Amino acid sequence: MTVQTAPAKYDIKDLALADEGKRRTEWSERSMPVLRQIRARFAKEQPLRGVKLSACLHVTTETANLMITLRTAGADIALCASNPLSTQDDVAAHLVRDHGVHVYAIKGEDHETYYTHISQALAFGPEMTQDDGADLVGALHMIALNRLDDLAPPIRKWVEGLSQSERKALVADVRGSTEETTTGVIRLKAMAKEGVLQFPIIAVNDSNTKHMFDNRYGTGQSTLDGVVRATNLLLAGSTVVVAGYGWCGRGVASRARGAGSHVIVTEIDPLPALEARMDGFEVRTMADAAPLGDLFITLTGNIHVIRPEHFSAMKDGAIVCNSGHFNVELDLEGLAKIASARRAVREMVEEYVVKGRRIMVLGEGRLINLAAAEGHPASVMDMSFANQALAAEVLAKDSAKMSKAVHRLPAAVDGEIARLKLQSMGISIDTLTAEQTKYLASWDAGT
Ligand SMILES: NC(=O)c1ccc[n+]([C@@H]2O[C@H](COP(=O)([O-])OP(=O)(O)OC[C@H]3O[C@@H](n4cnc5c(N)ncnc54)[C@H](O)[C@@H]3O)[C@@H](O)[C@H]2O)c1
Repeated sequence: MTVQTAPAKYDIKDLALADEGKRRTEWSERSMPVLRQIRARFAKEQPLRGVKLSACLHVTTETANLMITLRTAGADIALCASNPLSTQDDVAAHLVRDHGVHVYAIKGEDHETYYTHISQALAFGPEMTQDDGADLVGALHMIALNRLDDLAPPIRKWVEGLSQSERKALVADVRGSTEETTTGVIRLKAMAKEGVLQFPIIAVNDSNTKHMFDNRYGTGQSTLDGVVRATNLLLAGSTVVVAGYGWCGRGVASRARGAGSHVIVTEIDPLPALEARMDGFEVRTMADAAPLGDLFITLTGNIHVIRPEHFSAMKDGAIVCNSGHFNVELDLEGLAKIASARRAVREMVEEYVVKGRRIMVLGEGRLINLAAAEGHPASVMDMSFANQALAAEVLAKDSAKMSKAVHRLPAAVDGEIARLKLQSMGISIDTLTAEQTKYLASWDAGT
């Protein structure tokens, strides 16, 4: 489709950073053998030839490798950030200069620019989208449902400049989308439940080779990496309060324990709470944990998990951060209201004074692993982005046959990614003997 406002070719910090972005992207590529194999096949088969794809992802070196893979498959790509603080400006420059990706992302962009960049990725007129948190697809649905009041002002302004038929075409042209993270999948499943989903979604997060590794080991390591880079905190001997014992929380809790921290877990669901206890962690309510923690990390996907009543019970010097998808897990507005003073004390660290006690909030409450560190290690993103690349291929081939629902990649694809990853690590596993295969399929043999 043609839209009234032609998007600029790109909007990034500085094209001159491209050499550094290229070096760092190539460094990540070394740890992404599964994606490299997919790229080699895509180069021959061109499964995305001519497909216009808009992606809203964290602009990191690993994402650059995904974008290069999709370009190799023949896609034409616009890329905007899925968080205002997660963009690596050198990577953005490399993708623009060396791979012809239309990147709209600048680290530290304000609210207005963040949403302007999303509208530019939409104005690209995608046939396929990729999301991390469903901001792009969420906006498309607000347009489809004519709920313009619910759009962020910069997107709304752009949409108001489009005719009704252009708005309709914008949504109708999208054949399908992929979603990277738990929070995005929750939002999309809510859309499907309400019957408003406009096209099929492949929930990459739901693949075992994604959440069991990326959410657990990736978030586990990179979250602590972000905290340490921001504060230089000694984890050994610290009391770390982990809110949420899902895939991400399990990873952070076990890594913090490995670094010598005493870990307290908070939960709202009895099952993961019990699991945390039997994994050997102390389980408390946030109210009970608040006076005890040296470091608080939220990973729940929920809103206002740490509130003013918790902040006001914390000890002097407590460090608070979030590694869940959105910056709503900490009630920072509530904190600002009860604070008598507030100042930046270090890059990524803002100090609030509450009842004479200093509370340190990291990275404006945004995902700390991407704000203060580099996000997940490439080795784990290898599997997540293998899922993304294969999901794009499935959508290109089969979206017309898929229902307007949230789908998983087939189990065989998931298994194949795990097999390739093991192979790249030089690890062999046993195969079933004929006798074992028969035994596992029977109910009457060998009891
Ligand atoms: N930082 C990253 O790079 C990164 C990576 C992957 C996922 N995420 C995000 O992290 C969040 C968690 O993802 P996940 O895969 O672990 O989800 P999950 O659903 O596996 O786990 C979330 C857990 O939080 C618990 N919870 C909900 N509300 C709570 C509350 N008020 N207090 C305490 N616990 C509460 C739930 O019971 C659940 O056990 C999501 O927002 C996801 O999108 C971030």
